[in-house]
Amino acid sequence: MRIVLLGAPGAGKGTQCKRIVARYCLAHLSSGDILRQERGAGTEVGKKAQSYMDSGQLVPDGLIVKMMAGAIGRVAESGFVLDGFPRTVNQAEKLDELLTAEGNEIDAVINLEVDDDIIAGRMTGRRSCPKCGAVYHIENLQPRVDGKCDNDGVALVQRADDTLEVVQNRLKNYHRQTEPVVGYYRENGKVHDIDANREPDEVSSAVFECLDAMVST
Ligand code: AP5
Repeated sequence: MRIVLLGAPGAGKGTQCKRIVARYCLAHLSSGDILRQERGAGTEVGKKAQSYMDSGQLVPDGLIVKMMAGAIGRVAESGFVLDGFPRTVNQAEKLDELLTAEGNEIDAVINLEVDDDIIAGRMTGRRSCPKCGAVYHIENLQPRVDGKCDNDGVALVQRADDTLEVVQNRLKNYHRQTEPVVGYYRENGKVHDIDANREPDEVSSAVFECLDAMVST
C-alpha cells in the first residue's frame, strides 16, 4: 500500500502513522522528521530549512521534493505512509510524476479532520522523545513516568515550533496551502475523511477499518 496521511498540524498524523506502519508493515516517511534529522546533522538542507520551520512557514517546494524523492524511491516498491508530504498541490503533482514514472500510484489518502479550536491545546501539550521519536501529550497521552519516554527512559522535550504563536502561523498556512491538496486527491476519489476530534484509539479504529477494507479487496 502507498498511503498519504493529510491533516492540519496536530491532527495526529505522526501518532496514527506509527500505528499504521506497525499494523501493515509499511515504511513511515515523515517530511518533518526528516527535516529535523537534517537540521540535527547540520546538512545544507537542514540549514536552508531552519528559518522556515522556526517561523511556521512551509519550506520551499524544490528543497522538499528533492529530499522526499530520494526517501520515497528507496521504499516505493514495498509500500509506505507519507506524513506531512505532499503539503502543496505542486508537491502532490510532483509526487504523482515520480510514482507514475515507476508504474506506481497512491492507493489511498487518509484525511484527518480536526476542529481548529482544539489544535492549539494538542500542540502546546505535545512532548516527544529526542531518541526514538515517540510522541506524548501532557494530558491526553501521558508517559508511564512523568517526563520520561516509555521506550528508553530518555527525558522528553518540547518542539521549538510548538509555541502558540508559531502554531497559529502553521495553522493559517495549512488552510491556505495544504487544504487544496485534499481537493486535488478528492478528484481521484481516493480520499477517506476521518473524524480526528476523537480519542487516539477511536481514530485508529476508523483508519484501520478503512485500510483493512482496501487490503481485503
Ligand atoms: P511537521 O513535523 O510535519 O509538523 P505538522 O504537520 O505541523 O504536524 P505535527 O507533526 O506538528 O502534528 P501531527 O499531525 O503529526 O500530530 P501528532 O501526532 O504529533 O512539519 C514541521 C515543519 O516542517 C513545517 O511547519 C514546515 O516548516 C516543514 N515541512 C514539513 N513538511 C513539509 C512539506 N511537505 N513542505 C514544506 N515544508 C514542510 O499529535 C500532536 C499532539 O496531539 C501530540 O501530543 C499527541 O499526543 C496528541 N494527539 C494526537 N492525536 C490525538 C487525539 N486523537 N486526541 C488527543 N490528542 C491527540
